[in-house]
Parts: sequence; structure tokens; C-alpha cells
Amino acid sequence: MRTGRTLSWDWYPGTIPANVRIDESAYVETSFSFVLYRSEVPVGVQIGCGSATYSGTMFDVGPHGRVLIADYVLVNGVRFICDAEVEIGDYTFLSWNVVLMDTYRVPLDPFARRRELKRAVGRHPRRIEAQVPAQPIRIGRAAWLGFDVCVLPGVTIGEGAIVGARSVVAGDVPPYTVVAGNPARVVRRLSTEEINYGR
Ligand SMILES: CC(C)(COP(=O)(O)OP(=O)(O)OC[C@H]1O[C@@H](n2cnc3c(N)ncnc32)[C@H](O)[C@@H]1OP(=O)(O)O)[C@@H](O)C(=O)NCCC(=O)NCCS
Repeated sequence: MRTGRTLSWDWYPGTIPANVRIDESAYVETSFSFVLYRSEVPVGVQIGCGSATYSGTMFDVGPHGRVLIADYVLVNGVRFICDAEVEIGDYTFLSWNVVLMDTYRVPLDPFARRRELKRAVGRHPRRIEAQVPAQPIRIGRAAWLGFDVCVLPGVTIGEGAIVGARSVVAGDVPPYTVVAGNPARVVRRLSTEEINYGR
């Protein structure tokens, strides 16, 4: 699929930004996923071979942000809030309403928040543009994140890991483990039989 153009099946009259690279065999359901996109890096979103982003997916990517989606990844209505980098490995499955945020976008200091709320009044479009640190998120190959999972800045999720529905992931997740809850804790490790089931 070429970029910087419209999608023939799109219900929304938008375009795919020029610095979004989408493999020929990938599928992007709608350009509405890019209404909050403002990355200025050479490739702000990359979508690999056979991957798909479905309705409800939102690339809220700041000027320095970059989202790298590898091959055969399923992105089902995921919100990317990215000012640094979010990287998704091959064959990973992201269920509906997953939020991946590499930045909080909002200062912890209440006075700084108050200033930002006032500054936003003069901005078009009206948005908070606080200078807040960002830390990359990395999700390994063949992971599965259940619905409503929230992944916080700086988290790495290992290959083959499973994150239970509605979990908040605040720390790294080892490969081939099941984690769940808020904050997400290891529930168990996958057995060798489970890991090799589909071979
Ligand atoms: C995590 C999950 C895959 C189950 O994994 P599992 O290894 O079979 O785990 P179990 O069901 O045996 O539960 C193990 C423990 O984790 C807890 N647990 C499981 N899922 C949980 C969740 N989402 N949040 C909190 N705790 C959870 C169970 O209560 C159980 O606790 P206990 O040991 O104190 O009794 C499943 O619960 C889940 O969340 N699936 C996501 C489904 C989804 O989002 N589908 C979207 C479409 S793809």
C-alpha cells in the first residue's frame, strides 16, 4: 500500500500522512486513526507485512514519536499515545481498547498542570502540550494483550507473554508468563506444552 493517499474503502474523508509507511499486504481500516497524528520524524508509523489496524485505533503520536508495528500484528482498536517510541513485535495480538502510553502527557506538579490548562485556551487545535518525559514501550513477538489493558511508560513485555483483560502494566513482563491485575502481577508461567502447542 502506498502512503500519502486515501484508502478506497474508507468511511472517513482523510488521508494517510506522508511519513507513515504501510506494507503492501498490511490493512488500515480507516485514515481516522491518524486525526491526532503529528509526528515529524522520517517514519512516524511503520506497519509491517500482513499486519492490520482496525477501527478505533488511534495514533496519537507527537512530533518526535514513532510507532513500529512488525509483521502479522493485529491491532484491534488500540490507542497509541507516543512521544518517544512504541515497538510491537511480530505476531502480537492487541485486543480492543488497549492503551499504550509512553508518556503521561501531563506534569505531576499541580501548578504546572494549571498553567497547561490555561495555555491550552489560546491553542488551535486546543490541546495540552506540556514538556513531559517519555520512555519507550517495547512489546515482544507473539504477545497477547487482553481488552482494556493499559501499558505505562518504559515497560517491556517479553516474547509470548499474555496480559489479562483490564490489567495495568507498570513494570516489565518476563517472556512466556501470564500477568494480570492492577498493577499486573505474574499469575503463572506458560508450560513448555502450552508454548509448543501449535508447532
Ligand atoms: C489471563 C487469561 C488469558 C487467563 O489466563 P489463565 O492462565 O487461564 O489464568 P486463569 O484463568 O487460570 O487465572 C489464574 C489467576 O489469575 C486471575 N486472573 C485471570 N485473569 C485475570 C484478569 N484479567 N484480571 C485479574 N485477575 C485475573 C484469576 O482470577 C486466577 O487467580 P487465582 O489464582 O487467585 O484464582 C484471561 O483471564 C484473560 O484475561 N483473557 C483475555 C481475554 C480477552 O481480552 N479477549 C479479547 C479478545 S482476543
